[in-house]
Amino acid sequence: MQAVVVHETGGPEVLVLEEADRPEPGDGEVLVKVRAASVNPIDWKYRRGIAQRELPAVLGNDISGTIESSRAEGFAEGDDVFGWAASGGYADFATASADTIARKPDGVTHEQAAGIPVAGLTAWQALFDRGGLDAGQTALIAGAAGGVGHFAVQLAKHAGARVIGTGSSRNREFVLELGADEYVDYTQQDVAEAVSEVDLAFDTVGGDTTQSLVPTLREGGVIVTIANAPPEDAARERGARAELLVTSPSSDQLARVAELVGSGEVRVEIAEVLPLTEVRRAHELNESGHTRGKIILTPAI
Ligand SMILES: NC(=O)c1ccc[n+]([C@@H]2O[C@H](COP(=O)([O-])OP(=O)(O)OC[C@H]3O[C@@H](n4cnc5c(N)ncnc54)[C@H](OP(=O)(O)O)[C@@H]3O)[C@@H](O)[C@H]2O)c1
Repeated sequence: MQAVVVHETGGPEVLVLEEADRPEPGDGEVLVKVRAASVNPIDWKYRRGIAQRELPAVLGNDISGTIESSRAEGFAEGDDVFGWAASGGYADFATASADTIARKPDGVTHEQAAGIPVAGLTAWQALFDRGGLDAGQTALIAGAAGGVGHFAVQLAKHAGARVIGTGSSRNREFVLELGADEYVDYTQQDVAEAVSEVDLAFDTVGGDTTQSLVPTLREGGVIVTIANAPPEDAARERGARAELLVTSPSSDQLARVAELVGSGEVRVEIAEVLPLTEVRRAHELNESGHTRGKIILTPAI
């Protein structure tokens, strides 16, 4: 099969599409013919060596495709599934553990489904598992137009929260169309001056943004970050809490997000669909830090 293999850390040029052995599913795993994969920032962080993993490696967590063979109960050849790849998703075939995938609803395309796993579950777990967001509360989503942020805006709105999104000027209309009640353009305004008394601040941006969101919290509020050390001391001083989320796979949550996509209540914004042969360009685009929604890769066969 063809796969994008990284042999050494570096720039996009270390992404090499080459012949590789087809992975073998273990007990409790399925082999998936990949129809679409998606790019997450962790992929280029591995490529750069900012995040550590053993090399050589096939990158890519998120896949959607058709089961080629199954060694897992409840899944059979021909089933369309999506979720977390065990063996690397930038490939014609990938293995996946049964408890990290879910069935793809018929009304959801493989491209849409491949956009869900990391971004959709990160948004879900930040808002509900860590943030405890309830109807009627206010959620501030920093990075509202990104892969994670655009799911977070829609899931928070669907849960009955008031939603404030942040992003640059070009994403204002997009985020408001997703359902945000308010938008703060961080290039024009200091977010902490424009927003106050939120129940939950969700930081998908990191850097200086993490600390700058703390003053927006109400007493008893929470900041959940996925992109930085949690600002525990600053939050405590406000009588609030700070949490770091490291997302974990959940078949149940995958199925719930996909159901919302299938019913049209949540939309997967696809910035670009690129063939695996253009994986370097896909990484350049994502590494710019300004992707709107998700970048999808499709295998050659
Ligand atoms: N801990 C975990 O388990 C976990 C899980 C998933 C992701 N992550 C991390 O979370 C981060 C976000 O992931 P992602 O997939 O959402 O990334 P992404 O899609 O690349 O995010 C890009 C978005 O960030 C926005 N942005 C950039 N700077 C901003 C700022 N200062 N204020 C507000 N928005 C800003 C951009 O909007 P503009 O173009 O309008 O600036 C763009 O839409 C990454 O660092 C990723 O590695 C961690």
